Amino acid sequence: MDDGADLVSTLHKERTDLLDEIMGGTEETTTGVIRLRAMASKGVLRYPIIAVNDAMTKHLFDNRYGTGQSTIDGIVRATNTLLAGRVLVVAGYGWCSRGIALRARGMGAQVVVTEVDPLRALEAVMDGFRVLPMMEAARIGDIFVTSTGDINVIDGPHLEVMRDGAILANSGHFNVEVNIPALEAMAVEKQRIRDYVDQYTMPDGRRISLLGEGRLINLAAAEGHPASVMDMSFANQALCAEHIAKNAGNLHNDVYSVPEEIDKEVARLKLHAMGITIDTLTPEQKRYLESWEEGT
Ligand SMILES: NC(=O)c1ccc[n+]([C@@H]2O[C@H](COP(=O)([O-])OP(=O)(O)OC[C@H]3O[C@@H](n4cnc5c(N)ncnc54)[C@H](O)[C@@H]3O)[C@@H](O)[C@H]2O)c1
Repeated sequence: MDDGADLVSTLHKERTDLLDEIMGGTEETTTGVIRLRAMASKGVLRYPIIAVNDAMTKHLFDNRYGTGQSTIDGIVRATNTLLAGRVLVVAGYGWCSRGIALRARGMGAQVVVTEVDPLRALEAVMDGFRVLPMMEAARIGDIFVTSTGDINVIDGPHLEVMRDGAILANSGHFNVEVNIPALEAMAVEKQRIRDYVDQYTMPDGRRISLLGEGRLINLAAAEGHPASVMDMSFANQALCAEHIAKNAGNLHNDVYSVPEEIDKEVARLKLHAMGITIDTLTPEQKRYLESWEEGT
């Protein structure tokens, strides 16, 4: 059971002696799944893995609402900054970043989104967010949050034009989304002004604060996601582990999506736990939805 493919990487590089005994594995997060798919396509993955992140009951909820809430929580706990009326730039409009954008807007921030994918950018526009290239957003942002799974999303040229007092936070899996070496090289002074807040002073006197050393801010300065959203992720993990155990002989050394029946079962169980009941198709409705002759 992995989160970010670190365990897989260690097993494939340093403990290859253990690989033959491994029946299969599961992966929790987007960044891990990207790495595993790269390994599978190069033919180097040595055991089957189920990409738990692919489950609807994982990324629609944990990534969006979990990361959305806990990222804001981390930023606020670290800085006690007011979001209302501030320009908050969210890098990416994936599952995590759209949750962050949604929650920040709810707290009164003017949210700007940056993207590289035209479809996601269009979605952000139609969800009512301002979409700009990072080079333009960098000039106007008060608070920046990255959650792309990518590298150097906030880079040297962006740091050059940021406003005095800009706050940088990352919620993507690794601390590479802000180019920290560039920030360190540009700054003439670095001071820890409070827990989780390193303030860098630029040669022209501008101050830029990096939160939680650029690591996942919701884990660095807050408590991660609430249990009431992680329950679905971990239910997927558990049911996928069972699925691997039951189907060990039939799986190849590849990355598999979570079986749809597991995803649906997790949703059903979550609704049940929340005390919410829904309707069931009547035989008449089922027949209607399955036919092509009626209703034309
Ligand atoms: N903080 C947490 O607790 C937590 C929880 C779940 C996932 N994650 C991590 O957050 C990251 C994002 O996950 P996700 O599920 O939202 O991924 P996603 O694939 O749904 O979204 C990522 C988005 O970033 C965009 N992007 C890539 N490079 C960019 C760039 N240079 N500028 C602007 N946008 C760019 C992509 O086009 C995509 O739309 C991953 O690293 C994931 O592992 C963190």
